[in-house]
Amino acid sequence: MCGIVGYVGKREASPLLLDGLRRLEYRGYDSAGICTLGREGLSLRKCVGRVSALVDALRKKPVTGSLGISHTRWATHGLPSDANAHPHLDESGRLVIVHNGIIENYAELRRKLVERGHHFRSQTDTEVLAHLIGHHLDKLVPRGKRLAAELLTQAVHRATQEAEGTYAIAVLHADLPDQLIGARSGSPLVVGVGKGEQFLASDVSPIVNHTRKVIYLHDGDVVRLTRDRVELFARGKPIKRAVSTVHWSAEEAELGRFPHYMLKEIHEQPTRVADLLKLTLRPRDGTVEFVGRALKRKELAQIQRLVLVACGTSWHAALAGEYLIENLAGVPVEVECASEMRYRNRPLEPDTLVVAISQSGETADTLAAVRGARARHIRALAIVNVVGSTLARESDADIYMRAGPEIGVASTKAFEMQVLLLTMLGIALGRQRGTLSLAQGRRLVRELKTIPRKLQKILDGETHILRIAKKYYRCTDFLYMGRQFNFPIALEGALKLKELSYIHAEGYPSAEMKHGPIALITPEFPSVFVVPRDPMYDKNMSNIEEIKARKGPIIAVATAGDKEVARKADDVIYIPRTLDWLYPLLTVVPLQLLAYHIAVLRGCDVDKPRNLAKSVTVE
Ligand code: G6P
Repeated sequence: MCGIVGYVGKREASPLLLDGLRRLEYRGYDSAGICTLGREGLSLRKCVGRVSALVDALRKKPVTGSLGISHTRWATHGLPSDANAHPHLDESGRLVIVHNGIIENYAELRRKLVERGHHFRSQTDTEVLAHLIGHHLDKLVPRGKRLAAELLTQAVHRATQEAEGTYAIAVLHADLPDQLIGARSGSPLVVGVGKGEQFLASDVSPIVNHTRKVIYLHDGDVVRLTRDRVELFARGKPIKRAVSTVHWSAEEAELGRFPHYMLKEIHEQPTRVADLLKLTLRPRDGTVEFVGRALKRKELAQIQRLVLVACGTSWHAALAGEYLIENLAGVPVEVECASEMRYRNRPLEPDTLVVAISQSGETADTLAAVRGARARHIRALAIVNVVGSTLARESDADIYMRAGPEIGVASTKAFEMQVLLLTMLGIALGRQRGTLSLAQGRRLVRELKTIPRKLQKILDGETHILRIAKKYYRCTDFLYMGRQFNFPIALEGALKLKELSYIHAEGYPSAEMKHGPIALITPEFPSVFVVPRDPMYDKNMSNIEEIKARKGPIIAVATAGDKEVARKADDVIYIPRTLDWLYPLLTVVPLQLLAYHIAVLRGCDVDKPRNLAKSVTVE
């Protein structure tokens, strides 16, 4: 949802800013822009299209200066266009801003500013914020006096007080050649603390190449950066915030030998899973123990109900978690789509734990659901990937996915880690409550240890999945089906296909397909069945028969050695045998690969599917 990078230091800003934008492009990619301040004053370039279009524009007309801000946009107010691209200027043309978020009262602010004689060049809410800061600055700077840095900070503070909605902004002014100002509320912003240089960015990925020391800004913070200083303010008063160290390296966010981030991230799954297991499994006690700010054992024992809340792929992981936790631990679980929960006014008992699941930890709806629950004194646990994210900070406890940076817009490895952590939560609760015996716990832990090897085996069979993709990639519709633990996997398989390849795909509980989707079946309409050898096997096989009777092609994801399914399905992707509870960890991987290869064959941009953004920080 828009990416911001700012720099102040000794080096030429534009190469650093462009490199940073490339790393943040997953957040939005409909237009991009940059503004630097050098000896010749402000140089501003912006254009519709990807960051690569901006790079081309800069080749023809370079910008110079060692202070600069830049932006990659995901349009909210106003079409993607050169005029609506950021940065935006204030009325004086000397104050420059980039913004991520939505200013909800922008129309009213704009009307007032027009009455005061301001002229607007775009339809964006961001330009209104630029003019509003400029307006406050005019009031603060005495006529004929030089602009002081404190006054710009104050003007930013005053304008952001008037603005309603969400923002992360980076601001510079032509009269302050060494000052970079940032502010946030509701949208993420991180300061990178360097030696003789400082950075501002929407996440750490543009920063880690240069420094591992970062400060995660809090809502309401304003920061003033010069080459050698970082000054923070909250409610207009100076404050201190902790400097954190980022543990992942810049290489982790590089493509390496892979053509796409998505493929790289799919292939990382065995290692990521193995690393997390090493950290958490307690084989002797047949249980798991979460590290970090997870809930204490005593707190877990008091929980009578879980409400899992999430969006998108994370919501599918939550649905898998519902089945798993209820089965493993006998605790009632409900799943809420975060955007719905916030307006449902759902009764929440005091012994309920809200578990928010989010790769980014910044999704606006998930955050709002947690804030709503906590305002009612309900405890919240965040399962997040991005360290220091708002969701982690605003929850009572957190568990990190440890998936490493996920750049591909369509989530893969984060989903795997979410399902793994929810399985583990089920095991921990089950062992604690006695719904799982020591022997069952030990068996689960033993089997979990084999998952990385089994994941690798599935990845080794990628060529077979590519062959299947070649057979079906021209189809226009797909149905995905599964039951029980694998029903959410069918939903996730369908989502991966539609978001990457723009093919219409629907996920359904296998038996439910008789109540509607079966009407769609033709010889050109393939059904993907997730049909491992579990207690649902026979039921699933009957559903396969029903589709076959209507001449629908079947692609099955089945357990190795299952000959029966091979007789019925047109194509089979085998996965290694595991315990019923653990199949979702394996069955999702062939579906990720199938969606990936179909999208590549159709010539789609898998890492940046149209209209999508990785991190949805607006409602
Ligand atoms: C966007 C992304 C999805 C992601 C969803 C939730 O829609 O494109 O891949 O699953 O947001 O994001 P979160 O960061 O909360 O998991």
